[in-house]
Amino acid sequence: MSANRPAAVVVLAAGEGTRMKSATPKVLHAICGRSLVGHVVAASRELSPEHLVVVVGHAREQVTAHLAEIDAEVRTAVQHEQNGTGHAVRMGLEELSGSGVALDGTVIVVCGDTPLLTGATLERLASAHATDGNAVTVLTAEVPDSTGYGRIVRDAASGAVTAIVEHKDATDAQRAIREINSGVFAFDAQLLTDALGKVRTDNSQGEEYLTDVLGILREAGHRVGAAVAGDHREILGINNRVQLAEARRLLNERLLERAMLSGVTVVDPGTTWIDATVTFEPDALVHPGTQLLGATHLAAHSEVGPNTRLTDTTVGEGAVVSFTVADRAEVGAGAGVGPYAYLRPGSRLGAKSKAGTYVEMKNASLGEGSKVPHLSYVGDATIGDHTNIGAASVFVNYDGVNKHHTTIGSHCRTGADNMLVAPVTIGDGAYTAAGSVITKDVPPGSLAVARGQQRNIEGWVARKRPGSAAARAAENAHQDHQSDQ
Ligand code: UD1
Ligand code: CA
Repeated sequence: MSANRPAAVVVLAAGEGTRMKSATPKVLHAICGRSLVGHVVAASRELSPEHLVVVVGHAREQVTAHLAEIDAEVRTAVQHEQNGTGHAVRMGLEELSGSGVALDGTVIVVCGDTPLLTGATLERLASAHATDGNAVTVLTAEVPDSTGYGRIVRDAASGAVTAIVEHKDATDAQRAIREINSGVFAFDAQLLTDALGKVRTDNSQGEEYLTDVLGILREAGHRVGAAVAGDHREILGINNRVQLAEARRLLNERLLERAMLSGVTVVDPGTTWIDATVTFEPDALVHPGTQLLGATHLAAHSEVGPNTRLTDTTVGEGAVVSFTVADRAEVGAGAGVGPYAYLRPGSRLGAKSKAGTYVEMKNASLGEGSKVPHLSYVGDATIGDHTNIGAASVFVNYDGVNKHHTTIGSHCRTGADNMLVAPVTIGDGAYTAAGSVITKDVPPGSLAVARGQQRNIEGWVARKRPGSAAARAAENAHQDHQSDQ
């Protein structure tokens, strides 16, 4: 738990985000497996605040429903009209006081559209705030281009922060300042509440600016401080989809770096995309063109890719998965998947099993050492251990209305090109003949043959296709055969 546990974190997420040009509210756009606001909530949680409030406004039903899904403990405060960041924080604090919470200590304010902000940076801000005994501490950053941001104005002699001036309200001299307001603050709860009551709207946007609180507190003789972010990219706020892609790239790089430093080989970080929720064991190896999403886990010495997308999939120790799409699948230790396999939800592959080339599986389990090597569909099935499914087989699971289950025992050998019409059971150690349509249960140890008998009609080509190339070839074959004798 954080040494500087804040009384509350207030996340501002009421804005519309018109520049996204989207039917989806800005803070619900996702990168690396979480919504923008989801990343901010996750970083905020690292501080273990007593209360976490998200201020919602635009599309608030949608945003509120999403928040309830990702974090049951989060509270929401409604800001009906977006009258500025100061007004938004006021709505957040009023939500808490309205439900009987008396805030005592530090309030951290963050924006809902800064997904790269880390818990570690928030910790540093909270700790600087406490150590310096400030009334307010603003997280600032030196940026290459400060256009659009609030500028940090410091006293020429002491270097103390005196004010934050919004771009639109700034003089030319102030616009030249490259140190900007990240939009993240630590405040003394009581002083913040009092100062918000004094914020006016006499600015170019007619809004209640949160940034005005700094000047108000300073004029009242309180300590105003700043913490400079180590990496300005961390405070990147997302306003459009160009910035969304940029943030995704940066976060992906960060996640891959963490994975590599923990012992994962990533052959080509430039074409590998992972979600924040993916986990690895050392010596996992990821080939180029791979997407690892959701709760995917790669165990030690597993090898994934190239050109593979795994969603909520676990890959066991030493398993190899190549050119594959998998969703909610479990791949056992030492198993092989692909190239060109599609594992749909509920595919469970036992240790050392195989789902090979052009194999699709769904809601089906394959026992230890069992193999479906080529060109097959395995849907709604349970297959025992050390069984081999012949090439080009289909588990016929759908009668047009309902799905049915197929059960195959251990040590079975089904022939190539079988149609296994469910519901059907094949006992342990049974065989089926190639080209069979299996509609009846096969007892253990039997051979099932379920296909038309072959009939050869001699001389058919000579009679029905006289003078054709086929007829000549057949005639030559007969002559060769006779002269051999
Ligand atoms: C704000 C800061 C600016 C800073 C920049 C950093 C103010 C006045 N300006 O400017 O100094 O450099 O962030 O990115 O604080 N929001 C609400 N309700 C509102 C207004 C905003 O919830 O009424 C939320 C937005 O959804 C967003 C955040 O507050 O998440 C910031 O608002 P935005 O309009 O993007 O502020 P900027 O103009 O970027
Ligand atoms: Ca912004």
